[in-house]
Amino acid sequence: MKTVHVREAEFAVLDEGDGPPVLFVHGFPLDHSMWRGQTAFFSRTHRVVAPDLRGFGRSGGTRDVVEMSDLADDLAGLLDELDVTEPVVYCGLSMGGYVAWPFVERHADRLRALIVCDSRAAADTDEGRANRAKMAKSVLANGPEAAVEAMIPKLFADRTRSTQPSVVNGLRKVMLASEPRAIAAALGGMANRPDSTSLLPDIDVPTLYLCGEHDEITPPDEMAAMAEATPNATFVQIDGMGHMTPLEDPAATNAAIRSFLADLD
Ligand code: MLT
Repeated sequence: MKTVHVREAEFAVLDEGDGPPVLFVHGFPLDHSMWRGQTAFFSRTHRVVAPDLRGFGRSGGTRDVVEMSDLADDLAGLLDELDVTEPVVYCGLSMGGYVAWPFVERHADRLRALIVCDSRAAADTDEGRANRAKMAKSVLANGPEAAVEAMIPKLFADRTRSTQPSVVNGLRKVMLASEPRAIAAALGGMANRPDSTSLLPDIDVPTLYLCGEHDEITPPDEMAAMAEATPNATFVQIDGMGHMTPLEDPAATNAAIRSFLADLD
């Protein structure tokens, strides 16, 4: 991992391989390690850049609220610091997908193609916002344990929980190690994010939407509709998997991404 100074904070970032750059942006409340099945595979053919977002993993810079647009600007700054001048393939999961929308709006010149995994363009409902506020309060007062245990069943398909306990426990450890203040800051930013649905018809780069068949958080029907609304988009469902498709089934995820990347050349 490298340490890079961007916008008054220190960021930890995995930067490996040579070739066209692919930027992997993790979900909440995780770190770059959720992409290990992809970074190991694609670093053979591409330059893979997988940071810990502001406040998560080994990156600093937490604030009281971190907006999705702050995270998009951090990523652009990080690419500058790493001298990645070529447009990137942006690949984000869930919260990493929420960050894709301001990245598209604010840093379009840096974008070669877009991969959105298990995410949505719509904003939170009022109920969703209220739940995030409740979660932030609980995490700040009592630590992340209760919130993490409530999230785990929603992140993975039943099959993954019964057949891959080490994957589930590994992610649980990452979530429990997240700083309460960073968790609360991201919850605030996700609650504040605007509806980006109207952006989809204007996306002018090839786009891949990927979703686990049993994703309860961002269901496949909703992602298929996003693909319909995006001019040059493909939708791929990963059978039998939940919200954490890249971790649950790296082989199927990598096959879908590899085929998408091959079509770019
Ligand atoms: C994520 O996986 O990043 C979160 O589930 C996103 C969210 O809470 O909306």
